[in-house]
Amino acid sequence: MKTAILALLALLAVQAGAQGWQEQEVSGFTLRWATTGSNALSVELTGPTTGWVAAGFDPDSMMLGANIIIGYYAGGTFIRDDYGWQLTSHRDDILLGGTSDVEIDGGGEAGGETEIRFTIPLDSGDQYDKPLEAGQTYTVLLAHGPDGADNFTTQHEFVTMTQIVVWGLGLESTTWGAVKESME
Ligand code: HEM
Repeated sequence: MKTAILALLALLAVQAGAQGWQEQEVSGFTLRWATTGSNALSVELTGPTTGWVAAGFDPDSMMLGANIIIGYYAGGTFIRDDYGWQLTSHRDDILLGGTSDVEIDGGGEAGGETEIRFTIPLDSGDQYDKPLEAGQTYTVLLAHGPDGADNFTTQHEFVTMTQIVVWGLGLESTTWGAVKESME
């Protein structure tokens, strides 16, 4: 009985971990993400540049088909919801006829690094986003512009990719609110 209780506690601990932030260090980037509520993904991305940083979710090939969230800090945080509409080109969802589906949670620039924080729906319904399903693994492109490229257009200085698991167990929105406040 004692063993069963310990096993249950261990399982709960693992699940509690899954509900919190996941983190990866990838080639100078730090990517943190958490499923928030039941249908949103909150992300913090820090990259080694004073220009723009971006994450591209679930590309088909190169930039094509990726839901690209790109942003920079210039006295405030500027973040745009783009789509990889060509192998080597991305465009504002709105210009493509879609909708902007990104909530800006904050950002900053310090020590030569830029951080953007944002929340996207797991499934926005916009054809220029990519639906994300809880429990699935996705490729995420990470890219950054050169220092000083505070815009959405200067070509990247560096691009890489990683994989993330989108956990199904979400943080309660109240918990997430507190996490957000503590980061300000
Ligand atoms: C901001 C403006 C951007 C411009 C002008 C641009 C332009 C290009 C060009 C010309 C290429 C082909 C040549 C090369 O590999 O360098 C390319 C490749 C690529 N881009 Fe972009 N890009 C931009 C932003 C992004 C963003 C935001 C992402 C993803 C988050 C991204 C992901 C990629 C990937 C994955 C490749 C393929 C690299 C490879 O296969 O080696 N790009 N881009």
